[in-house]
Formats: sequence, C-alpha cells, structure tokens
Amino acid sequence: SEMGARLLLLLGLSLLLGVLQALPCFTCPRVNASGVCETWESVCQTQGSQQCFLRKVYDGRLLYGSQGCGDLCLSLSFFRQSVQVDFVCCNDAPFCNRF
Ligand SMILES: *[C@@H]1O[C@H](CO)[C@@H](O)[C@H](O)[C@H]1NC(C)=O
Repeated sequence: SEMGARLLLLLGLSLLLGVLQALPCFTCPRVNASGVCETWESVCQTQGSQQCFLRKVYDGRLLYGSQGCGDLCLSLSFFRQSVQVDFVCCNDAPFCNRF
C-alpha cells in the first residue's frame, strides 16, 4: 500500500540517520482535521529521555494536532473552553505517535 511504502521509506530514512538506541517518531507541526500532515512532515529521533508525542485538539471530532519528539513528555488531557486537548507520549515502538 502507499501508506506501507511511505512507512518503509520513513523507517529506512530513520535507520540511515539513526543512533541505534534512538526511537524514530513522526514529526509534524500541523496535522489537519483529516489526520494528514499539512507541512514539514518528517522524522525525528528521540535523544536521552525524550519520547514520541502526539497532541490532538478536538471538540468531538479532530480539529488539528501535532507530532514530534519531546522532552518531559506527560500524557494528559484537559479541556479549554469546549475544546479537549490530549497529549499522548509513547516510547514503546518506532513511530508510535501516529494519528
Ligand atoms: C487535509 O490535508 C489533505 C492533504 O492536503 C487534504 O486532502 C484534506 O482535504 C485536508 N483535510 C481538511 C479537513 O482540511
């Protein structure tokens, strides 16, 4: 599939760039309401205590989000006005921060 090929490409890239112990994560400053990265889709490698993170902003349905490698990553959810923000942190698998 196209998604599979894309993942393989990202995985290959990340292995080329990679430090062995580092975990590759998706990076995208802006994921749109369809869960598609709008700009600067890339791969980051966790360093030290970093984890992959996923941030979702939604009001019943997804409004937008972002992905990356983060320090001091805490998984949490909160409401701001009628909008819910979820932070998800993971380091259990490569690219675990997919939408
Ligand atoms: C998200 O981006 C994709 C690719 O650019 C586009 O096809 C899709 O319509 C966008 N979704 C929204 C809700 O804007």
